[in-house]
Amino acid sequence: MIERILPPAVIAVEAFDDPPEATLLPAEEEFVAKAVDKRRREYTTVRHCARQALGKLGRPPAPILPGEKGAPQWPAGVVGSMTHCAGYRAAVLAESTEITTVGIDAEPHAPLPDGVLTAVSLPDERTHLADLTTRSPEVHWDKLLFTAKESVYKSWFPLAHKWLGFSDARIRLHENGTFTADLLVPGPVVLGTELTGFTGQWTTGNGLVVAAIAMP
Ligand SMILES: CC(C)(COP(=O)(O)OP(=O)(O)OC[C@H]1O[C@@H](n2cnc3c(N)ncnc32)[C@H](O)[C@@H]1OP(=O)(O)O)[C@@H](O)C(=O)NCCC(=O)NCCS
Repeated sequence: MIERILPPAVIAVEAFDDPPEATLLPAEEEFVAKAVDKRRREYTTVRHCARQALGKLGRPPAPILPGEKGAPQWPAGVVGSMTHCAGYRAAVLAESTEITTVGIDAEPHAPLPDGVLTAVSLPDERTHLADLTTRSPEVHWDKLLFTAKESVYKSWFPLAHKWLGFSDARIRLHENGTFTADLLVPGPVVLGTELTGFTGQWTTGNGLVVAAIAMP
């Protein structure tokens, strides 16, 4: 489902379960050596997806190790992003000559737990969500806001190499399946211009809400 919200230059591979043929490369093992089964399964399957995507880019299998602040380290010349949640894993990759950065996030399509929204949103974003909920009550806009913000962080981090808090970007969600994120802190300089925000797309289906940013 995620390819629906990504441009053709981005290769997406997703899984709705953990296929038995998904395995780790030796270098990846140490990062989940003491992990619980759930963590091991999501880590393994999403890397299986990523290696399939690497193959579609014409690249050989490579270990995908957690790097700085947990960000995945991709082979030279590749940008990518991964997400996993109950019942879903996805990896998306592209050539860095075509896509500057990419960030994806998926979550179960259900309301945020009580108390979380105020911790992850700005007051005017909550007003915006209330308006959207009145018009389209079938979407859990609070969870979508959270998902979009995590896709912003995953797109931001490979460019900025630093933290971006939930109050550091203002999100506007649109019923046509797009969203914008305006940065409220100085952005990194990308291709000679200071980054001021992102545009992305979102979708729902299969009990999930998914957000994706792919910056040309
Ligand atoms: C890092 C974070 C975004 C991961 O999101 P999540 O919903 O918990 O988990 P997901 O399954 O969707 O994503 C996990 C994957 O994200 C990737 N990831 C982790 N840290 C990352 C980083 N700093 N930059 C980019 N990608 C990162 C990894 O590939 C990870 O999978 P892996 O551990 O198997 O390699 C989240 O835990 C977090 O720290 N959020 C706070 C920052 C934020 O969202 N700010 C909002 C800015 S508006």
